[in-house]
Amino acid sequence: MERMNVEFYEKIWMWAAAVLLVLFLGTILMTAVSDAIYPPSHMETVNPAALGDSPEFSNPAVSVRPDGSVVVAIVAQLFSFNPNPIEVPANRPVTFRLTSADVIHGFEVVGTNANAMIIPGYVSQFTITFTKPGEYIVGCNEYCGLLHHSMVGKLIVRKELP
Ligand code: CUA
Repeated sequence: MERMNVEFYEKIWMWAAAVLLVLFLGTILMTAVSDAIYPPSHMETVNPAALGDSPEFSNPAVSVRPDGSVVVAIVAQLFSFNPNPIEVPANRPVTFRLTSADVIHGFEVVGTNANAMIIPGYVSQFTITFTKPGEYIVGCNEYCGLLHHSMVGKLIVRKELP
């Protein structure tokens, strides 16, 4: 059997590539274990053409579950967010559930780390606790059309439940 001949420098680069791969995968694993940072995993579909028939998205609003947690259903469409303004309490976990009636939009609460992409056909979901009462600007950060720049909403964080 003939032995494959690998150049010395090629060997170095092969090992370097292997070490980098282990490092990168290790970083993902480490942050997952130590900081609970995961890639997006929420997968839920909804028919964007039939949002009017959806109990949750036909009249999107802020609601309080029996256990006291707050859920906000939001529909984004050219070029607004519904509901607007959004009123939520401070110091309580708020779960945002977002979907789009038309194209891809963004949902970013400026000055916080609430930031998600809104994709028609899917429900984007994340939970965040706002600690500072006040008014926040909600911006669309995915280019969605001519009036993208004017697609702005308002989030009001109150000391108590509104
Ligand atoms: Cu919606 Cu940009």
